[in-house]
Amino acid sequence: MSLKIKNYLNIKNKRKIICLTAYSKSVAKILDKQCDLVLVGDSLANVLYGMKNTHNLSLDTMINHAKAVRQGIKKSLLVVDMPKDSYKKPSQAINNAKLIIKKTGCDAIKIENNPNNLKIVKSLINSNINVMGHIGYTPQFKKKFRVEGKKLKEQKKLLKHAKDLEKLGVFSIVLECITKNTASLITKNLKIPTIGIGSSVACDGQILVTDDILGLSGFYPKFIKQYVNLEKIIKRAVTKFVKDVKLKNFPRNKNSF
Ligand code: KIV
Repeated sequence: MSLKIKNYLNIKNKRKIICLTAYSKSVAKILDKQCDLVLVGDSLANVLYGMKNTHNLSLDTMINHAKAVRQGIKKSLLVVDMPKDSYKKPSQAINNAKLIIKKTGCDAIKIENNPNNLKIVKSLINSNINVMGHIGYTPQFKKKFRVEGKKLKEQKKLLKHAKDLEKLGVFSIVLECITKNTASLITKNLKIPTIGIGSSVACDGQILVTDDILGLSGFYPKFIKQYVNLEKIIKRAVTKFVKDVKLKNFPRNKNSF
């Protein structure tokens, strides 16, 4: 296990773990200074490419964005999401994970888990690949959004799934849209850190999609906090530019050669 991952694991029970997503070098550079982990999430399918879900994102697209993000990262753990159809079989998963790591220099990959892909996790970890898990609402496998872990039976299932993943050797697990009680139970029962998105303060750390907190994605469900309205700020700047060009206030002589 790398020193970077050891340091990440040591944060559990000391302070909250800070994670955000990045799809570009410029954003990664800003996040790197304050985040413990930067994720190149497959949410870029919806956020950047306007796709209706994450299902058709290609491996090449993920790799290209991860290469850009890599350039902005000095100290944070860099994790890259594997796209939906890139880890269907163990051999395919290993080859694609190795390709992502080789091309991007990331520290780990993340896959969305269901009880049927434990053997994929096992094969990746047996190949010395650092794996972050992801349970609860997993957009790659679930058609409809719903909060998970409300019923006792579901809570037990999620806890077992999380424990199975820990046993296999994942270094951390994203808990997406899981109730506070269940997220708390999972977090208390695991040695590895849980990172919540829509899963309450009970998790060891938090992650959100950066474009959502910046007010750029147009997607603001209950579990998101918008810290700034960049859409408004950009609109204002564009309006000023349009006016300047129309009135011939731009470019000035100082902007010309
Ligand atoms: O794709 C993504 O951005 C994610 C996070 C929101 C956890 O998986």
